[in-house]
Amino acid sequence: MSPHSLSPLSLSKDKIRVLLLEGIHPNAVRVFADHGYAAVESLPHAPDAETLKRLIADVHIVGIRSRTRLSADVLGAAHRLFCVGCFCIGTNQVDLAAARGAAIPVFNAPYSNTRSVAEMVMGEIIMLLRRTFEKSTQAHAGVWRKTATGAHETRGKVLGIVGYGHIGSQLSVLAESLGMRVCYHDIVEKLPLGNAVACRSLGELLSAADLVTLHVPATPETRDLIGAREIAAMKPGSLLINAARGNVVRIPALVEALKSGHLAGAAIDVHPEEPASGDEEFVSPLRGLANVILTPHVGGSTLEAQANIGIEVADKLVRYSDNGSTQGAVNFPEVALPVQGRVTRFMHIHRNEPGVLSRINAVFASRGLNIAGQYLRTDGEIGYVVVDVDGELEDDANLRRNLETIDGTMRVRFLV
Ligand code: NAI
Repeated sequence: MSPHSLSPLSLSKDKIRVLLLEGIHPNAVRVFADHGYAAVESLPHAPDAETLKRLIADVHIVGIRSRTRLSADVLGAAHRLFCVGCFCIGTNQVDLAAARGAAIPVFNAPYSNTRSVAEMVMGEIIMLLRRTFEKSTQAHAGVWRKTATGAHETRGKVLGIVGYGHIGSQLSVLAESLGMRVCYHDIVEKLPLGNAVACRSLGELLSAADLVTLHVPATPETRDLIGAREIAAMKPGSLLINAARGNVVRIPALVEALKSGHLAGAAIDVHPEEPASGDEEFVSPLRGLANVILTPHVGGSTLEAQANIGIEVADKLVRYSDNGSTQGAVNFPEVALPVQGRVTRFMHIHRNEPGVLSRINAVFASRGLNIAGQYLRTDGEIGYVVVDVDGELEDDANLRRNLETIDGTMRVRFLV
C-alpha cells in the first residue's frame, strides 16, 4: 500500500495540494505526478504578500524560487503547510526560524549547479591564459593585436583550488583532463581525485599555483580570505578566479595587484555588492581593467542546472511527504529514513524538552503496539522522532489525540 493511500489516519495524496510559483521547471511537476500527486498547480510569477497569503492558505506543499518572500506573516496564513521547497540555492527569502517554529522543514538544491560552475571556471581558465577577452574587446574596437605575448596553454600549468567540495573537486577532474596539474587546500581532509595533491596550507597553495580558484562557502573564516598578503604570496604573473562569494576577496587589494602587474588577470563572477535587479548599474573598481573577466553571478545559471533543481527539490519534498525523510532540510533535524515496509509510521515534531520521547513511547506501550523502528534527531530547539509500528493500524482517533496532547507537541503525522 502506498503512503497516504487508504488510511483515514493519514491524508490521501489527491488531497495534498502543491503550489509551485515563479515558473519552476516542469520537471518538478513531473516528479510530483510520477509519485501520484494530482493536485499540483504551477504559476509563472512571484505573487505579492497579500495574494500569496490567499494562495497559500490551504496548500500543503509550496515551491518557490528566490523572489517569493515567505515571511513569518505569510507563513502564519498557511494553515495546512507542512513543507517548503526553495527551487534555488539560497534560502534567505524564507523566514527559516518561523518555518521551524511552525514545524515546517525547508528544502533547497545546493548542488544541482555544481557542473555549471565548474564548466564556466574551466572556460575562464583558458580565456585568461590566452588573454582572449582582452583581445576580443580590442578586435571589437577595430584593433588588431596578433601576438603570442602573454598567451599560454593550460597543459602543465598548476591550478590551485581553494575549497575541495562539490565544485572544487568536479573542477579538479575537468582541469586534469586538459593536462593541468591540480593542487588543493581544504580545511577538511578530502580524498584527492585523480592525481590532485593536497596542500597543507593556503600559503603553500598560493605559492605553488599558476592560477588560484576559490570554491569556499561564505563563512566568517572565508571573509577576506584573499587580501593583500595572500595576493602578495601568489606567483608573479599568476591569475585569480572567484566564483564563490563576493566577500571572499578584498577587491581593493586585487585591483592594486592587477594594476601593478603582479597578477596577470582575474575572472570574478561574484561581487561584494551586486545589483538587486537588471535596472541597477553594476559598480566595481574592476571595470575596465585589462584581462579581467567580469560576469554577473551566473556561474551556476544554466538551463541544465534549472532542470536538475526541479528534480532535486521536488524529490526532497516527495520524500518528506511520502516517508518523513528530512535529509537536506536547512532548518530542521535531518533524519534519513528507510522505505516504509508493512508498518504504520508516526512522525512527531516537538519542542526539544526532556521527557517527550518517553511519553510518546508510553502511548504506544499502553496499547500493546510493537515498535519496529524508531528514529530520533534533535537540535537545540526541536526534536523529530519517527516511530514505525508493526502492521497497518485501524483508524484510531484516540491514538492521534494522545500523541497530539503530549506537552511540547508541534505536529503529528501518520503514514500507513
Ligand atoms: P561545498 O560545501 O561542497 O564545498 C565547499 C568546500 O570548502 C568544503 O569542502 C569545505 O570544507 C571547504 N572550506 C570551507 N571553509 C574553508 C576554508 N576556510 N578554507 C578552505 N576550504 C574551506 O560547496 P560547493 O557546492 O562546492 O560550492 C562552493 C561555493 O560556491 C558555495 O559556497 C557558493 O558560495 C558558491 N557557488 C557559486 C555559484 C555561482 O553562481 N557563482 C553557484 C553555486 C555555488
